[in-house]
Amino acid sequence: MTNILVTGGAGFIGSNFVPYFLEANLDVHLVNIDALTYAGDLNNLREVENHDRYTFIKGDICDRQLIEKIFEKYDIQGVIHFAAESHVDNSITNPDAFMQTNILGTFNLIDVAKKHWMVSPGVYKEAYKNSRFHHVSTDEVYGTLGKEGLFMETTPYAPNSPYSASKASSDFIVRSYHHTYGMNVVTTNCSNNYGPKQHDEKLIPTIIRKALAGESIPIYGDGSNIRDWLYVLDHCKGIALAYDKGVSGETYNIGGRNERNNLYIAQTVCEILDKKHSRPKGSYKDLITYVKDRAGHDFRYAIDASKIENDLGWEADENFESGIDKTIDWYFNKFIHNKSKSLA
Ligand SMILES: NC(=O)c1ccc[n+]([C@@H]2O[C@H](COP(=O)([O-])OP(=O)(O)OC[C@H]3O[C@@H](n4cnc5c(N)ncnc54)[C@H](O)[C@@H]3O)[C@@H](O)[C@H]2O)c1
Repeated sequence: MTNILVTGGAGFIGSNFVPYFLEANLDVHLVNIDALTYAGDLNNLREVENHDRYTFIKGDICDRQLIEKIFEKYDIQGVIHFAAESHVDNSITNPDAFMQTNILGTFNLIDVAKKHWMVSPGVYKEAYKNSRFHHVSTDEVYGTLGKEGLFMETTPYAPNSPYSASKASSDFIVRSYHHTYGMNVVTTNCSNNYGPKQHDEKLIPTIIRKALAGESIPIYGDGSNIRDWLYVLDHCKGIALAYDKGVSGETYNIGGRNERNNLYIAQTVCEILDKKHSRPKGSYKDLITYVKDRAGHDFRYAIDASKIENDLGWEADENFESGIDKTIDWYFNKFIHNKSKSLA
């Protein structure tokens, strides 16, 4: 049995990853450490809470003593690091937590892993010779694009928000542990994810939640900002593949080749809701409202995923239209169906 530490597994992507990875790797015991900030929700992990190859620990990745204890107690042989403060809007109003968790937390984890696994630079202890640190990061580290072009692994870093700056810093820490100490590390930089279990504050859950409540659907600026949307399970599959087969020291961009602007997203969600759960009068689109733009709002992100596609054989199973349909069904159950069941 291999013991792998997952961080932030009660968040959006982590809680999709944990059940998928347990199912796909029958020889793995996953230890999930999560501080259960406002973004973490153990309800998202109900399906695995009694799984015999799964252990949950409530804790902070910045707590060095705790991380050391976990490495000792469970003899951790691999790390897949999701834990982060992840909401750009919050990083504008309260950047401190982003610097703590995203930068110092990552340093803490990788430094403890190094001490547990290695004897000296370039020399692993025999029992840990295959141990790997996988860092989950974002395409936002590359800054913003104009109308043309794609982010490649070689694109210079140019983070624009406190969130992306803190993630860029953590990427550099991980990179330095490979170059200085010869640690076995892989970093994946992914585009915007959507799908089940995402926090209500994020764009797509907000659109669905506001629409179903009959409230204004807020869209920043004129809705022309473009993101490259990837269904969360496709991201999880990419992480698992890069963890397993990625070349040490390499970074892999993961993206769905599904560029959509925010207005298109809102309109598409409304059109699907009109078909599935029509309003008594009018369209959900009538609720779309333009609000003051986010400070420093990056115009466009888009990923060139050909490295992970060609080198590791990854490809996205969902396109935006198939993924959004599943996502809307999941949130309809969460916001309407389950709520009315609990009221009954
Ligand atoms: N969501 C996206 O579209 C996206 C895209 C690319 C990359 N990423 C990256 O993927 C990772 C996961 O993103 P997400 O959307 O699931 O985030 P999330 O905000 O939904 O979840 C983060 C999780 O980390 C936990 N956490 C926060 N601070 C912690 C701490 N100090 N110690 C332990 N746990 C802590 C939270 O409780 C939460 O469960 C992040 O590193 C993020 O930068 C996200």
